[in-house]
Amino acid sequence: MDSRISGFYKLPLGERLKVLKNMGVLSDLDLRTLEEGLSVDQAEKMIENVAGLFQLPLGVATNYQVNGRDYLVPMVTEEASVVAASSNAAKIARAGGGFKAVCSDPIMVGQIQLTGLTSISRAKKTLLDSKEELIEHANNQDPVLVRHGGGVRDIEVREVDTLRGTMLVLHLLVDVRDAMGANAVNTMAESIAPKVEEKTKGKVYLRIISNYAVKRTAKSKAVFPKDALGGEAVVEGILNAWALSQADVYRAVTHNKGVMNGVSAVVCATGNDTRAVEAGCHSFASRSGEYKPLTAYYQNDEGDLVGEIEIPCPVGLVGGATRSHPIARLAVKILGVKSANQLGEVIASVGLAQNLAALKALGSEGIQRGHMSLHAKNIAIQAGAEGALIDQVAKIMVLDKKVREDYAREILARLKRD
Ligand code: MEV
Repeated sequence: MDSRISGFYKLPLGERLKVLKNMGVLSDLDLRTLEEGLSVDQAEKMIENVAGLFQLPLGVATNYQVNGRDYLVPMVTEEASVVAASSNAAKIARAGGGFKAVCSDPIMVGQIQLTGLTSISRAKKTLLDSKEELIEHANNQDPVLVRHGGGVRDIEVREVDTLRGTMLVLHLLVDVRDAMGANAVNTMAESIAPKVEEKTKGKVYLRIISNYAVKRTAKSKAVFPKDALGGEAVVEGILNAWALSQADVYRAVTHNKGVMNGVSAVVCATGNDTRAVEAGCHSFASRSGEYKPLTAYYQNDEGDLVGEIEIPCPVGLVGGATRSHPIARLAVKILGVKSANQLGEVIASVGLAQNLAALKALGSEGIQRGHMSLHAKNIAIQAGAEGALIDQVAKIMVLDKKVREDYAREILARLKRD
């Protein structure tokens, strides 16, 4: 499969779907599923008090190559320009050999909070001495995970000073394989809590996964050739933008927001937990004690730009909405990933691409021109334009640099009169 589909963005929707079908990415049944989307009945099984459905656009980014394999990347977002920018940056990275990505083992941490201890050091020793027994008990809760090569890898016991005294926090380090892991980890944490209490005579309160997923990260790296970027000045602009994000938290947060435009769009499309990934990424950005950019850039000996990213990536392919939401299932099919780690490698690459695209645009023409043409179409519709008039009204507003509803009405009246 070649993810370079020339002129994909210019095609009408029906033609675009035909291309995906002819490429063997989507079947006739998939096309029907796309049209039908999630049903209210399915939604009723996902959350409580369902009142309806909330739809968002699903786009497909092109040109991605990660570890030598091509990917079409499904992205769910309400923001104009994100999918186009992503595809564009992926094309530039491709000219430099594509993204090289790698994930750590999928280790998630479950926390068990232990209070009311008469001797912190004795309780800590007791727990560490019982490590094997606690691990075995936890693993017995999820034989399927263990059969797939996952399970508890280790136990750590931390002393944490709090406003209510020193507490012990037991960490279960669980290899969750292809799951996001919250269910497996929470079940294990809850199951060993009575044993932890019994052994230490303390009182357990919290038994829950930590979203500070620093033991489960995805890294990606790409060379963006200076010629494909548009020359030395563009490289300079990106390096300067990155330097500011290193030095200034106001900029770093926006810089990382741009990374998350890509990351969250793929996390959402694949039915994963956007809040878990976002909480993980932003806290990871602060791990030094200061909030920093999630990406880094430098020039190589040839003067090309090298970009790198590392982010926590607690995403899965089994369980949850990834399996139960028909469009999420389809998104995973479009992506063609076979493991959670492979998904993490693509997501990290998309985060890097999205950031590169934003910095490239910000250092040159700015982002408003790209944003404006889609925005103008929305304004034209709001002003009452229909059919071919939408594009005509939008085009005139962008050319005249007056993207406003009153002006759209004026143009519309003129076009109709003529
Ligand atoms: C807009 O959604 C994202 C950007 O602000 C990111 C950035 O400034 O790097 C363009």
